[in-house]
Amino acid sequence: MLKVAGLNVRYGKSHVVFDLDLTVESGQMLALLGRNGAGKTTSLMGILGLLPGAQGRVAIDGADVSRWPAHRRAQSGLAYVPSGARCFPNLTVAENLEIAARRRAGSNGSSSTSSRGTSWTKERVYELFPKLGELQANMAGGLSGGERQMLAVGRALMSNPKVILMDEPTEGLAPVIVQSIGRLVLELKQTGVGILLAEQNHQMALKVADRAAFMEKGRIVDEMPAARAINSEVLHRILGV
Ligand SMILES: Nc1ncnc2c1ncn2[C@@H]1O[C@H](COP(=O)(O)OP(=O)(O)OP(=O)(O)O)[C@@H](O)[C@H]1O
Ligand SMILES: [Mg+2]
Repeated sequence: MLKVAGLNVRYGKSHVVFDLDLTVESGQMLALLGRNGAGKTTSLMGILGLLPGAQGRVAIDGADVSRWPAHRRAQSGLAYVPSGARCFPNLTVAENLEIAARRRAGSNGSSSTSSRGTSWTKERVYELFPKLGELQANMAGGLSGGERQMLAVGRALMSNPKVILMDEPTEGLAPVIVQSIGRLVLELKQTGVGILLAEQNHQMALKVADRAAFMEKGRIVDEMPAARAINSEVLHRILGV
């Protein structure tokens, strides 16, 4: 669903991501694990087409989008949930979802379809996350950290993505909320969307991911099934656990 080959990213003269290769299948999750400054966010932004200093191949569902600007990649099925789960705090939950839907390809929203060929609606998002349905008339600014993360994922779904790139959804959240994010990501996976999850919280990530890629100083140094990664030497070495 998402295939990245030989991606290199530079900020000016500083080379930050080296020869990144990765694949995310539909309905599968790849966890990209690494310490602060390893290059996780830079990798995601390079894949999204947001960085002028990125070079390499990116294909979405077989289509080479390497030369496409970010908005076209988004329309072709790439969605982003940035760290901190940004949303419009002075709009309601429902309004936040409506705005996200308006951004998708085609004014009537029907020209792009998700991984299962169906179009996401507010109602489907509420079915997936009933809590959001209860909160639909509330201002987004008043949501808890976990609820805001749910809304951010809902907003991403409204673009009918094939693959969602999530950047540290657990950052700064209490352990009990981290657990609920783990469940949220699992439900998301069951919709058939592919997920690339950048995380430092390896416990949550490895519980829900299918595969794990370890990043150190801008390079993927190892990749393996998540179940094997849990007891791996590389996990110990790279994340110090
Ligand atoms: N806009 C920028 N200009 C120059 N260097 C940058 C820029 N953004 C990030 N970097 C550098 O690139 C490297 C990788 O940063 P990146 O944010 O991708 O790491 P990360 O793995 O996401 O870390 P964290 O877990 O702290 O979010 C770091 O050395 C960082 O200082
Ligand atoms: Mg980061």
